[in-house]
Amino acid sequence: MDTAHIRNFCIIAHIDHGKSTLADRLLEYTGALSAREMEDQVLDQMELERERGITIKAQAVRLEYTANNGEKYMLNLIDTPGHVDFTYEVSRSLAACEGALLVVDAAQGIEAQTLANVYLALEHNLEIILVINKIDLPSADPEKVKHEIEEVIGLDASEAILTSAKTGVGIKEILEVIVSQIPFPAGNANEPLQALIFDSHFDSYKGVIAYVRVVSGRIAPGTRIKMMATDKKFEVTEVGVFRPYLANVAELGPGEVGFIAASIKNVKDTRVGDTVTNADCPAEAPLPGYRKINPMVYCGLYPVDSADYESLRDALEKLQLNDASLLFEPETSVALGFGFRCGFLGLLHMDVVQERLEREYNLTLITTAPNVIYKVFKTDGEVLDIDNPSKLPTTQEIDHIKEPYVKATVIVPNDFVGAVMELSQEKRGEFKDMKYLDTTRVMLTYHLPLSEIIYDYFDRLKSSTRGYASLDYELIGYQQSELVKLDILLNGEPVDALSVIVHRERAQQRGRQLAEKLKEIIPRQMFEIPIQAAIGNKVIARETVRAMRKDVLAKCYGGDISRKRKLLEKQKEGKKRMKQVGNVEVPQEAFMAILKMD
Ligand code: GTP
Repeated sequence: MDTAHIRNFCIIAHIDHGKSTLADRLLEYTGALSAREMEDQVLDQMELERERGITIKAQAVRLEYTANNGEKYMLNLIDTPGHVDFTYEVSRSLAACEGALLVVDAAQGIEAQTLANVYLALEHNLEIILVINKIDLPSADPEKVKHEIEEVIGLDASEAILTSAKTGVGIKEILEVIVSQIPFPAGNANEPLQALIFDSHFDSYKGVIAYVRVVSGRIAPGTRIKMMATDKKFEVTEVGVFRPYLANVAELGPGEVGFIAASIKNVKDTRVGDTVTNADCPAEAPLPGYRKINPMVYCGLYPVDSADYESLRDALEKLQLNDASLLFEPETSVALGFGFRCGFLGLLHMDVVQERLEREYNLTLITTAPNVIYKVFKTDGEVLDIDNPSKLPTTQEIDHIKEPYVKATVIVPNDFVGAVMELSQEKRGEFKDMKYLDTTRVMLTYHLPLSEIIYDYFDRLKSSTRGYASLDYELIGYQQSELVKLDILLNGEPVDALSVIVHRERAQQRGRQLAEKLKEIIPRQMFEIPIQAAIGNKVIARETVRAMRKDVLAKCYGGDISRKRKLLEKQKEGKKRMKQVGNVEVPQEAFMAILKMD
C-alpha cells in the first residue's frame, strides 16, 4: 500500500479516562470486528488486565476506513499501557506513530498521567489530536477542560473533538481528523530495512511474535534479519497484520505496522525498542531511542512449601518467555530457605507477577517487602549494586550510599495542598514547584526517594486526599542519603528476610514501630518469643510475644472428635502462609510489616 494512505496513531490518556472504550468504538465503527466478535475492550487481552481494568501490554490493530473524500485508508491503532511502570513501553509505542489522540475526561480534566503522556508524545514530535471524552456525564464541563489544556499544556484546544465513547458521539469525526491531520509515514522501500520492535509475545508454536513498525525497506517470509542491539540473526517465517487477530500478509513495507515470526525462541532476542534490519544488507545505524530497561523494584519470592521450589522456577521461566523485563535469580535466605530474588519495573508489575504465579501456577508464596537498588560505595573503592537489604556491607566497610530519586508530579484540588505537602515532607521529599491549573486545582512537584514511593506514598496520598490526587513520577537519578540497615532478631537470631534499609534519622522510630507491629502479627506459640530491632550490634527496640497459656486442644479433651479435627483443620488453614523461621512460625504479613507502619 502506498504510504499516503497509511496513518499510524495511538491513544494516550490518564487511567480511566476512556482509552479502551474509545478504541472499541473505533474498531466497531470501522467494522474491524463483527458485532458477534465484539467483546468489550478487546485490546486488553489478558484476564488479569481485564479484571483490574488496566492496560499492561501495548497491542495493535489495523482498521480500514473510507473517508468522506471517498479514499480508503489503512489506520494502525497502537494501544499504549497506561501505567507509570511501563513508561518505556509507552515511549516505544509512540515512536511507532505519527499522531496521538489525547483523551481527557470531560468531568475530571487533566490528571498527572495526561501530562506525562503528552510530554512524551511531544518529545516524539507527534501530531496531537485533542479528544474530550465522557461528554454524556452530567458533571462534564468541556469548556473548563479546554481552558485547562490551553493553560497547562499550551495546546490550542479550540478544535478539540467532543466525544462520548459510551454513546458513540464524535467517533466519525475522530476518524476524519486522523485522516486529515496526522501526517502519513515517510519512508523508502528501496532503502535498507529498519523496523522498530514495540512489543512482542511468545507463541508456543511459532516462537516469539515481534510487533514491528517498518520505517524503511521491506520484510517478507524468507528475509534474513538481524536484531541490531543483540546482533542475533534469524530467517523470517511469517509476516502479518493485526485485524486484531493475527492475519498473514505477503510483505510489510515502509510505514506499515504488523508482526514478524522467525522461529525465535527467547523474547530477550526481540527487545522492545530494538531495530530489525536485513542481515544481508543491513542499515547503517539502528533507529534512535533504544535502551535496555532495568528493573527498579526487587523482592524475594519463596515457596511456602519448599518442595515447590522447582515449580516456582518453572513458572518464573514461563512468565519470562512473555515478559523480558522480569528478572529473577536464585537466592538463599537463612530464614526462608531457597527462593528467588526478582526484579520488576515497578510495584504494579510486581503485583501482577505475584498474582499470576499464585493464580495460574497454583503456588503459595512468601514475598519479602519490596526494595529499590542501592549503590554502595565502599571504603576500598568498590561500588556495589545492592538489591537485597540483608546483603548490605557492614557500616565500617561503607563510605557512602546512594539511592534512586524520582521527580513526582501530584495534581490535587486546592483543599488538599496542605495534606500533600505534609506527607511529601514526611517522606523526605524536596519541594520543587507549585502551579495552579485553574482556580480549584494545583500541580505540585517534588523530588522524592523512590523507596518512599514504593513503601506507601501512593496509598497515603490517596487516603489523605480522599482519592482526588493523581500521581506520576519519573526517575531522575541517584542521590546520596544517610541510610542504615535495620535488622530484626527473633529469639535472638537475626532474620535476614526481615532486614530493611532505612534513613538514619528514622531508624530508631522505624525500629520501634516494626517491633511493635511484629508483636501484633506473630501468633503466640508454646514459648516466649523476644523480638528485637537492631542497627549493627546495637539493639534499639524490644518486644515480647508471650507464650500461649493453654493447649488449644485442652478444651476439647475427651470431647467430640469431629470438633477436635475441625480445630486442627482450622490451624492448618492458618498455617498456609506461615514460614518456620528457626523454631518460630512467622506469617506472610510479618515480611510486609514495614509497608504498613504509619
Ligand atoms: P486504562 O485501560 O486503565 O488505562 O483505562 P482506560 O483509559 O482505557 O479507560 P476505560 O476505557 O476502561 O474506561 C474507564 C471507565 O469509564 C469505564 O467504566 C468506561 O465504561 C467509562 N467510560 C469510558 N468512556 C465513557 C464515556 O464516554 N462516557 C461515560 N459515561 N463513561 C465512559
